[in-house]
Amino acid sequence: MTEAKKQIVDNFGRPHTYLRISLTDRCNLRCFYCMPEDGVELIEKPNIMSLEEIIELSRTFRDLGVDTIRLTGGEPLVRKNFGYLVEELAKLGVTLKITTNGITLDKYLELFQKIGLRKINLSLDTLDKAKSVFITKRDYFERVMRNLEKSLEMDMEVKLNIVLIKGVNDNEINDFIAFTKHKNLTVKFIEFMPFKGNKWDWSKGVGKQEILDTISEQFGTIQELKNPRHSTSSNFKVDGHTGSFAIVSTITSPFCEDCNRIRVTADGKMMNCLFASSDTDLLTPMRNGEPMNDIIMNAIKTKKYSRDGMDVKMDADHYEKNRSMISIGG
Ligand code: 5AD
Ligand code: SF4
Repeated sequence: MTEAKKQIVDNFGRPHTYLRISLTDRCNLRCFYCMPEDGVELIEKPNIMSLEEIIELSRTFRDLGVDTIRLTGGEPLVRKNFGYLVEELAKLGVTLKITTNGITLDKYLELFQKIGLRKINLSLDTLDKAKSVFITKRDYFERVMRNLEKSLEMDMEVKLNIVLIKGVNDNEINDFIAFTKHKNLTVKFIEFMPFKGNKWDWSKGVGKQEILDTISEQFGTIQELKNPRHSTSSNFKVDGHTGSFAIVSTITSPFCEDCNRIRVTADGKMMNCLFASSDTDLLTPMRNGEPMNDIIMNAIKTKKYSRDGMDVKMDADHYEKNRSMISIGG
């Protein structure tokens, strides 16, 4: 008899096939909802996974059934020799995706096309330049907009990540919907989530129902699209628009039951959940040449069913102990 193929399965029977790797905890923007105002303690260089270590670990996960890898940060494109890394990862035969702020995207679009990386999530919280400077504390708006256009011209599958915050960009919901009229992209509204140091308070958040009401008030009937399996968003379309929109309702209506995600931070810590308060060090054993399969397959067994145990409500005692978003990687 052949041995059953090894897979990463948690205690709820969920096979984990989707890995998100943070390539760096550095970023060239300072979005207030992600980066604590007084900065973050950066990971020291020797503790950052080398490119070869990232490739080796990705291969291990691939051999354990991972079929999709998303590259995140900080900002993944600021990682030195990013081009080399992504070309090597493409050889693993997994679906590659990336989440980026788009500032230097133009440098890599041709390479992405060549290696078949087509799915790009672009953080773009506003269509207004002045507001963009306020949110990101930097002035790259035009450059990002140009890179967005270039990505669409090159037929990339683009989703815009929009973290909605009351009094900041909630008045732009319908501007984003209008933006999808002639553009083949998805605008993805994300409920504001709590991470260490980001001064979260749900009164600043905008929930799924409120978003839907705002859109239908102006655009009429909203068509619900079929959600792909393991999707963490609900997907919709407004009649007559080329593009679509999505809502990530982590706070008001979590989508954890079908979760297939694993995260690895830039210092090689495996996290079972975006809100996990503990992690498993993979880098040390890998550097020691230990066999990794069992370490990974055991680590997933501590995964909780939903939001690291915050099943009902988000609990400040819990999330303030966690990492900040910039050092998790989205
Ligand atoms: N709440 C929701 N989404 C967030 N992101 C970063 N911080 C938060 C937060 N507090 C998202 C951004 C970015 C991605 C990496 O993570 O949309 O695009
Ligand atoms: Fe998965 Fe945690 Fe996100 Fe739920 S909150 S979908 S369990 S990573």
